[in-house]
Amino acid sequence: MAGLADIVACESSICSIENSELRYRGYSIDDLAQNATFEEIIYLLWYGRLPNRLELKALKQDLAENAVLPKKIYELLHLYAPWGNAMAKLRTCLSFLTHFDDEVMDHSFAADHRKAVRIMARIAAIVAAIDRIRKGLEPIELKTIRPTSLAEMFLWLLTGEKPAPIAAKALDTCFVLHAEHELNASTFAARVTVSTMSDIYSGIVSAIGTLKGPLHGNANEQVARMLEEIGELSRVEEYIAQKIANGERIMGFGHRVYKNGDPRAKYLQALSGELAEWRDDRRWYELSLKIEKLVYEQKGLKPNVDFYSASVYTYLEIPRDLFTLMFAISRTSGWLAHILEQHENNRIIRPRAEYSGKTEVKWKGISER
Ligand code: SDX
Repeated sequence: MAGLADIVACESSICSIENSELRYRGYSIDDLAQNATFEEIIYLLWYGRLPNRLELKALKQDLAENAVLPKKIYELLHLYAPWGNAMAKLRTCLSFLTHFDDEVMDHSFAADHRKAVRIMARIAAIVAAIDRIRKGLEPIELKTIRPTSLAEMFLWLLTGEKPAPIAAKALDTCFVLHAEHELNASTFAARVTVSTMSDIYSGIVSAIGTLKGPLHGNANEQVARMLEEIGELSRVEEYIAQKIANGERIMGFGHRVYKNGDPRAKYLQALSGELAEWRDDRRWYELSLKIEKLVYEQKGLKPNVDFYSASVYTYLEIPRDLFTLMFAISRTSGWLAHILEQHENNRIIRPRAEYSGKTEVKWKGISER
């Protein structure tokens, strides 16, 4: 089946998607979106159950202690500060981090979990550093801030200011909603990579490279571009009609697995509405609502996770070309969970191809060709 649609490639106990019902380790996304913090999700995905108070405190302490970046990362980012694609910079930084981790080839359970904490803690700080250094700003020193969550830490490192509680909470909920999604393309790439017993950093670099595509994680940035191109409500009908007439995809809509709507979209829609009120600027939210209505009426397609996240990140004043990096920060928790699971019971992932080329072709010397 093209694109491995509906092909079961492995057994996993991390995430289930049945008839638009999404669960992490058996917990419904409805319960998690309304109650969990991102740190509780990280623990749940990696260890298979929600943490108690002590375990949560210990994980948060671990993440905080490991978020300091090797100084050379900043030197690397200064090398090409003003130019370069942000996702490619993130991919390069994760690859570079390999050289600062002396447990890279130790696949023991304990070493894997220590590396997972280091990668999870650092990736948000790297994204903030990418933006500050390309703007000619110095990275914020972690010891000068007192964040209470990874989401708050990210916004503080990005802007240099303590974020408003509504912003930190909204980003935390985005991280909960983007954390994990079974065998999506980037997670599958991570599992294939580490199934050869290659290292955890290579797995994350493969995943970042895969998420970078507009059919996958980069759709959120493309949605933001669409919202800006449309600009105002009066132009939505003409714009969407043109897209459909040209047979073009409308970014943020459709899904390989969900044929009756992505259960995460409603929470992101609600966040977009909340932030629109907070910013007293309903423009992006109302544009999104109208696009959603038209696309469903004309194409029968519903929004996926990337559609409303575009307006949420816009309201959070995150630079547009960092939108996919936001997805990467959150999904690193899921990628790491799958890497840990692959290591538990590994067999190299090597499917077959159905051959459709020529057969039994006779050799010809160069003079006959
Ligand atoms: C993510 O897999 C995951 O779980 C991913 C993800 C996660 O959490 O990890 O959920 C995150 O990547 C969400 C998807 C983000 N991508 C986009 O928003 C890009 C736009 N969407 C499409 O490209 C598409 O819907 C995909 C890539 C999401 C799914 O592709 P499929 O399953 O291969 O679907 P398809 O291309 O075969 O489309 C089926 C039909 C086609 O019509 P026909 O050619 O058969 O007549 O639906 C049409 C498509 O043309 N269609 C669309 C469309 N999506 C599907 N038409 C217009 N716009 C769209 N967005």
